[in-house]
Amino acid sequence: MNYRHDFHAGNFADVFKHAVLARILLYLARKPAPFRVVDTHAGSGRYDLASGAAERIGEWRDGIGRVDPSAMDPRARALVEPYVALTGGAGLTPSGEARRYYPGSPAIALALTRPFDRMLFCETEPAALAGLRETTGRDRRAKVMALDGYTGLNAFVPPVERRGLVLVDPPFEAADEFDRLAAAIPAAFNKWREGIYAVWMPLKERRGPDRLVAALKRAGADEVLRLELAVDHANLDGPLAASALVIVNPPFVLADEMACLLPALARQLGSHGRGVSRVARP
Ligand SMILES: C[S@@+](CC[C@H](N)C(=O)[O-])C[C@H]1O[C@@H](n2cnc3c(N)ncnc32)[C@H](O)[C@@H]1O
Repeated sequence: MNYRHDFHAGNFADVFKHAVLARILLYLARKPAPFRVVDTHAGSGRYDLASGAAERIGEWRDGIGRVDPSAMDPRARALVEPYVALTGGAGLTPSGEARRYYPGSPAIALALTRPFDRMLFCETEPAALAGLRETTGRDRRAKVMALDGYTGLNAFVPPVERRGLVLVDPPFEAADEFDRLAAAIPAAFNKWREGIYAVWMPLKERRGPDRLVAALKRAGADEVLRLELAVDHANLDGPLAASALVIVNPPFVLADEMACLLPALARQLGSHGRGVSRVARP
């Protein structure tokens, strides 16, 4: 296993995932009661886009580098701005200097939670773990666990707050990742039926998300939202061109927000006008 998110930080899939993550966190923070974020595959939390890995591959140039809220209609702009603000503003300078650091899911959670909310981050790769410890620093709201994400999911659900979000964002290096998700997410849902679960998946074929949705339905999850964003035609053997988020118990505003925001992101991120998005309630 040698996945390093540094190479992919800020790419189109990160923009999609993190824009949705920000909307869910903002929704949770509307109510006064505290909530918890459990991030099972957290990564290092913050990425230097000028570092060797990110700069060399440069995936962020076709991701956050293309996002320009000022070119969106006012509602889409308002929906994306809290996320874009965390990346340093709209778009990046060609040299990448203006916004050198891209926030991963932990940095976004740290920024959009309140003093009384809590976060729990699992990570196993040593360099990512060291980065994550640096990102969370002395913030007492955050706990970093050097622990397998699926073990963490089983151990930390339900949280004492009984409100919150579980983000599951594995590297998809293992051949059985879809099997693990189809077992682990319904099992967690059975332990904590009120929690919001957001599961990110690469979309090379539809079977992966289909299987998870079917397993969730069998477990009795009625409120499921499936979001997709593609930047090009699907290509089984080529580079990733599409990804999906399966969300259990989505905030009631999310489908409507995404019906507005995702087409705007697809227009900016799509390659040669081939960007498409989908919002479905399976
Ligand atoms: C796609 S990245 C996560 C990105 C992060 N969630 C974000 O949005 O910024 C997947 C991460 O999972 C980590 N990882 C790999 N195997 C793991 C495991 N068994 N448990 C927890 N994390 C793992 C990888 O080191 C990598 O940092």
